[in-house]
Amino acid sequence: MTEYERAVEQKLQAVKAKPHARILAIETSCDETAAAVIEDGRRVLSNVVHTQIPLHVPYGGVVPEIASRSHVQKIGSVVRRALEEAGLSLAELDAIAVTNGPGLVGALLVGVSYAKGLAYAAGLPFLGVNHIASHIAANYLSYPELEPPFTCLVASGGHSHIIVVESGERYRLLGRTRDDAAGEAFDKVARVLGLPYPGGPNLEKLAKEGDPKKYRFHSAFNEGDGFDFSFSGIKTAVVNRLHNAEQAGEAIDRADLAASFQKTIVDILAEKSVRAAKAQEGLAGERLALAGGVSANRALREAMETRAAKAGIAFYCPAFAYCTDNAAMVGSAAYGKLMLGETDSLSLNAVPYLSIEDQSQGA
Ligand code: KG4
Ligand code: ZN
Repeated sequence: MTEYERAVEQKLQAVKAKPHARILAIETSCDETAAAVIEDGRRVLSNVVHTQIPLHVPYGGVVPEIASRSHVQKIGSVVRRALEEAGLSLAELDAIAVTNGPGLVGALLVGVSYAKGLAYAAGLPFLGVNHIASHIAANYLSYPELEPPFTCLVASGGHSHIIVVESGERYRLLGRTRDDAAGEAFDKVARVLGLPYPGGPNLEKLAKEGDPKKYRFHSAFNEGDGFDFSFSGIKTAVVNRLHNAEQAGEAIDRADLAASFQKTIVDILAEKSVRAAKAQEGLAGERLALAGGVSANRALREAMETRAAKAGIAFYCPAFAYCTDNAAMVGSAAYGKLMLGETDSLSLNAVPYLSIEDQSQGA
């Protein structure tokens, strides 16, 4: 046993006897450099997010090389601020957690390497966390009483999944996108509407001024009984509608187009996830949560809340601060793992295509 492994063993024993467990969490999977200190998996002592949005705006999307460089430049100060705002030193922490996938490999590696270095230097347990599990765990920060099992729609830039959260370690996939993720569809349509990056929130803003019933985009696949999604056809239909109008010299109201597109996506997400929850037995059939960057979309939150209420299902969604990428949710997701003593070795790698089901292995 190495000196580091001995220190971790001692810490794990000490954590069981302590009244509170404090985790420093780090997130660098995409274009936010974030660090947070979380107590007992639910209480946010600090939550620092440095967004790279201005760096990527000129390119209309995230440039991986620029993202990695900026993470390297900012991670030290972001972590320092998270500790300062929590009023804690490294020695007062119980573990270091970090997103190790899915995400951009170069961006993930910055957080993973930094977290390993801190854990080794401070003799603290090291925990790798799945980014999708973190988005789901954002709900625990807003609803400290919420516990699995529940059904959850995860809609982000890279994922659209309907999942039953059986426990902190076990996830059962009910449905997923066959092509674009919901956030990706928002981003691509925003781009053709001439909106700046990041597309999703800018499209939502434009949609507020438009008529959601002006245009209809049929989607045969999504009208079926299954729980899988397909958004690529809808995205193409919007793009074609815009191009056809431009070629014919026909005036088209971009706000109406944005509102109609948003309504189409929102209705599909809300309808399928409520139907998926209803099909579950026990508590997972009575509770539906929302997670991922697209959960910041007000139209989606409202549509899900309304449909869930009609079906007699309780609805949960994270506070806005925890919807898009942040490290508070990483600390929340890591807490269960720490309490089970499931630490990771310092040889843990960044895994760009890490799936949520990998998380279930061995559970
Ligand atoms: O979870 P997230 O911050 O990063 C990933 O893990 O992908 O999600 C980012 C995605 C982007 O596609 C962004 O456009 C979308 O979430 N998004 C939104 C809104 N805010 C963020 N989509 C629609 N409406 C929003 N208000
Ligand atoms: Zn995310």
